[in-house]
Amino acid sequence: MQKIKNPSIINFEKKGDDRGSLIPIEGLNNIPFEIKRIYYIFDTISDIKRGTHAHINLEQILISVSGSCYVDTYDGKERKTFILDKPFIGLYIKDLVWHEMYNFTSDNVLLVLASNIYNEKDYIRNYEEFLSLAKANN
Ligand code: TYD
Repeated sequence: MQKIKNPSIINFEKKGDDRGSLIPIEGLNNIPFEIKRIYYIFDTISDIKRGTHAHINLEQILISVSGSCYVDTYDGKERKTFILDKPFIGLYIKDLVWHEMYNFTSDNVLLVLASNIYNEKDYIRNYEEFLSLAKANN
């Protein structure tokens, strides 16, 4: 798979037929990493923010398999806002990108595919610390 911009949207190919739609996701095939962990966020209160951190070494893909939410990203240089409102688009986020999810609809199920198991040591939760790491990286 070719290199993907961090962060950016991946459009998954729909395998639809007259019965409905299906999206297959295969590690190292239509996404750039092997999946080691899956988690999903649901029943989220609409006016709260989730995320508000970056990672040191982790690749993730966020997919609204139901409903929608917004994601703001900042890599230390560029700020972007993504609206995840379709089950066939995924937001790819790699290292050193601060991300915040918000505007969750009550039916939102945000599926996340991750390249590694949960490791609290991989989290950058302090924004000032993130800014200095991102600056050093850019
Ligand atoms: P948190 O990182 O606050 O979620 P978000 O980034 O979506 O705001 O995680 C909430 C809780 O769940 C926290 O206690 C850590 C735990 N957790 C796991 O045990 N495994 C995981 O894979 C994730 C993402 C979180």
